[in-house]
Amino acid sequence: MKVAFVGKGGSGKTTVSSLFIRHLAAERLPVVAIDADINQHLGAALGLSDDEVAGVPPLGGHLDVIKEYLRGDNPRIASAAAMVKTTPPGRGSKLLRVGGADPVHAMSLSVRGVRFMAAGQFDEGDLGVSCYHGKTGAVEMYLNHLVDGPGEYVVVDMTAGADTFASGLFTRFDVMFLVVEPTRKGIAVYRQYTDYAADFGVTIAVVGNKVQTADDVAFLREHVGDALLTCVGFQPAVRAMEQGRPFDIGTLDGSAREVLRLLQRTVDAQPKDWERFSRQAAEFHVKNAESWANQAAGTDVTEQIDPDFRLGPDALIPA
Ligand SMILES: Nc1ncnc2c1ncn2[C@@H]1O[C@H](COP(=O)(O)OP(=O)(O)O)[C@@H](O)[C@H]1O
Ligand SMILES: [Mg+2]
Repeated sequence: MKVAFVGKGGSGKTTVSSLFIRHLAAERLPVVAIDADINQHLGAALGLSDDEVAGVPPLGGHLDVIKEYLRGDNPRIASAAAMVKTTPPGRGSKLLRVGGADPVHAMSLSVRGVRFMAAGQFDEGDLGVSCYHGKTGAVEMYLNHLVDGPGEYVVVDMTAGADTFASGLFTRFDVMFLVVEPTRKGIAVYRQYTDYAADFGVTIAVVGNKVQTADDVAFLREHVGDALLTCVGFQPAVRAMEQGRPFDIGTLDGSAREVLRLLQRTVDAQPKDWERFSRQAAEFHVKNAESWANQAAGTDVTEQIDPDFRLGPDALIPA
């Protein structure tokens, strides 16, 4: 299952996604964690040392390797250079399994049951950039080629930025958790997301964070309505970790642990829609072809779309 945590900077995306990832790992479930936030802090939030994080090759710095592998012997993709971030898989493409033994997952670090990968450091300037180089482009390619099943999780800590919408990255997830603080700014980001995502059938569940009082909950309920899934309060265990003390998920308060179980149940209850996944991959690829990719690649990249291919478990069976 493909899961994203999005929200305004500082809302708690990294914190809540790291808690969810730790919860899945504690349940001994396979989980790949990907840091695609503008500030790369997920590794630290998962308890990795600076040296460990520094040792993880950034996906965004190895686009050539990723493209060369994923295109496999797909006849519609002549070269790695002709592959753009939205190029969908087709017959001949290499597909990925969660945590598989492939050159993409090789760019990860396994610690305490979590497979950690990172997009690489980027800044606001990278976000609007269409191009081949966008750091989140590597994550998009990864997701576009990944055949995941129930009980397998890829959790992406992501920025709520323009790039996410422009490329279609936000349609690559089974569930998107929008982390919202009980403030007017938090609500504004919520509106922006739901307005945009409504047309695409994306499942968005709001997770209130840094919620302190019943008034905070009422505020979120008033503005978000039924989209409000649950709320996380201030977690002393998170603060303690940031003060350098070891973190133990067992020390989270009972309600926080229950919140994490609820997030998991929400993901588990979400039916896989491979038809939508493939259709929207093609739609956004056409959109990108027209806006920049054809010009950048010097060829009509819409010809890369394989009309008879649909990603999903069946695509893993050799023809
Ligand atoms: N529920 C929480 N309890 C305690 N501290 C929190 C909580 N959520 C976020 N924080 C703190 O708030 C700050 C911003 O959170 P962070 O997860 O880095 O936000 P984002 O990734 O959305 O920018 C961090 O210092 C983090 O530790
Ligand atoms: Mg963050």
